[in-house]
Amino acid sequence: MGAVLDAIKSRRSIRKYKADEVPKEQLLKVLEAANWAPSNGNIQSWSFVVTKGDAVDKVCKVFSDAMQEYIPNAPYIPAEQKAGMLKYAEDFGGAPMHITVVYDTFEGDDEKTEKSMQAACAAIQNLMLAAWEEGLGTVWISGEVCSSPITREVLALSDSQEIAAIVPIGFPDVSPAGTREDVTTKTKWIGFD
Ligand SMILES: Cc1cc2nc3c(=O)[nH]c(=O)nc-3n(C[C@H](O)[C@H](O)[C@H](O)COP(=O)(O)O)c2cc1C
Repeated sequence: MGAVLDAIKSRRSIRKYKADEVPKEQLLKVLEAANWAPSNGNIQSWSFVVTKGDAVDKVCKVFSDAMQEYIPNAPYIPAEQKAGMLKYAEDFGGAPMHITVVYDTFEGDDEKTEKSMQAACAAIQNLMLAAWEEGLGTVWISGEVCSSPITREVLALSDSQEIAAIVPIGFPDVSPAGTREDVTTKTKWIGFD
């Protein structure tokens, strides 16, 4: 298997990290990979906010506060999983740093904004794969923590910027297994024998 396919298939979302900080040179490598993503008209309308310390703690608290309320009351979460989920919710499994991937929005041009978000998602995947190759774990965090006014303030976003994902990053302290449905069940061939 080639190196890219190998990284694609072996990468896992990591939800438990060692406390060690990621050296800046490694962070720059994964940011470089993210920045080489494709974009509509090569607009490159993404940007990255790299945080550690207080800013990480504040964003984690936004998520944790919401989850302390949500997880205990979610009927679909098996009771025996709730404690582990609450622990993860404290700090995304202890990742010492976050890379938040931001995209520009374009007032009055929803199509351009949508493409801008799609390009940011391509950047996120590049980032996660490059991190994996560097021996680093990541997890794509979406949802309310990304749209929270507190998160936006901590990350000093402008009104025309949105968050595509918060990506905790660090050295993995777990090795989860992955699963995928067979691609043949998801593929329609037209014009082939
Ligand atoms: C758009 C998107 C949103 C996601 N949101 C979250 C999230 O909010 N929290 C989380 O723990 N994982 C999140 N994930 C990670 C998925 O749960 C994960 O990729 C999936 O379960 C497959 O596991 P794997 O990445 O280890 O192969 C998200 C992934 C994507 C692509």
